[in-house]
Amino acid sequence: MRPFKEIKTNYYFTREDEEILLELKPVMEKRADRVVEAIHQWINSTESARRVFKNESLKVHVMNLIKDWFIRLFSGKYDNTYYDYLIKIGQKHELAGVEPHYLIRALNIVKNSCIDVLCDEVELCRERERYFIAINKIIDINLDIINSSYIEEEIKSYSIAYIARGKILRLGEVFSQLTSAALVLSLIILTAAVVYLCGRDIYEIFTGQLEQNIITALGSVLILWVMLELINTEIAHLKGGKFKISVFIGVALVTTIREVMIATLKHESIEFILSLVASVLVIGLIFWLVKRTEEARR
Ligand code: HEM
Repeated sequence: MRPFKEIKTNYYFTREDEEILLELKPVMEKRADRVVEAIHQWINSTESARRVFKNESLKVHVMNLIKDWFIRLFSGKYDNTYYDYLIKIGQKHELAGVEPHYLIRALNIVKNSCIDVLCDEVELCRERERYFIAINKIIDINLDIINSSYIEEEIKSYSIAYIARGKILRLGEVFSQLTSAALVLSLIILTAAVVYLCGRDIYEIFTGQLEQNIITALGSVLILWVMLELINTEIAHLKGGKFKISVFIGVALVTTIREVMIATLKHESIEFILSLVASVLVIGLIFWLVKRTEEARR
């Protein structure tokens, strides 16, 4: 909020204006009820303004507050306490969901009512003009401060929501990065285990049954190859690339193919081998469908 002094200077609100307003105090105090009644009538005749009040007693309460405010308008004392009071009105309106246009209209009614009072009470036209200029300034200052504090309160509530949203998003991002890093780490460990498996299978080629061990080692190399592909996919994903689900299905496919190879070499039962072959066919079909979709999206 801008300092009160600056606002008063902007409106050319002087010590003389303060005195003029104080002069009007007795007259305006007498007519305060009528001014409030004019606002009350407008609220009653305006559907949306009426809906702001949950019940009749709240409306009566607010009308009393408006009366106090109106009388204070002619107190001649416009210090920082008065400034804080106006700021609070704006904040309260924001909290209560009283949109600024209601205040603008209500203050317009107050201005019109003051003109009526001046016409009734002050005979000299020049005097009326002098009074009205001071009233106009103080009402515009009120409008400026109340609405500025309303806007400030609104921005505050938005920015709190934005800060909370930003923090949650950042937390999500950090969590996602950490999980991805953990995934890459697990893949590296698993790949290392597959390297060991390959090494063992290759070693067994020279120590055991040549034909059987070559096929087993081939299966392990196949898995190693897919594991590397998996790591590369995850790294590409971490760098902002697209996530390729086909690679994961590829791992399942290659593992099942390896199982078929081993089962054949071990001369397992035909039913078992057939069930593995069926699995390879189903996973292969899924792999083909997913891969096709991925390529079509590129
Ligand atoms: C001359 C214009 C107005 C003035 C000077 C004014 C003044 C005030 C004041 C002093 C408060 C209490 C602030 C606090 O608790 O610190 C208030 C609250 C409120 N005002 Fe206004 N008001 C005006 C116009 C309106 C209008 C036109 C409406 C509705 C259409 C309205 C609805 C309310 C409501 C709903 C509250 C909250 C009451 C509560 O929950 O306690 N006001 N107003």
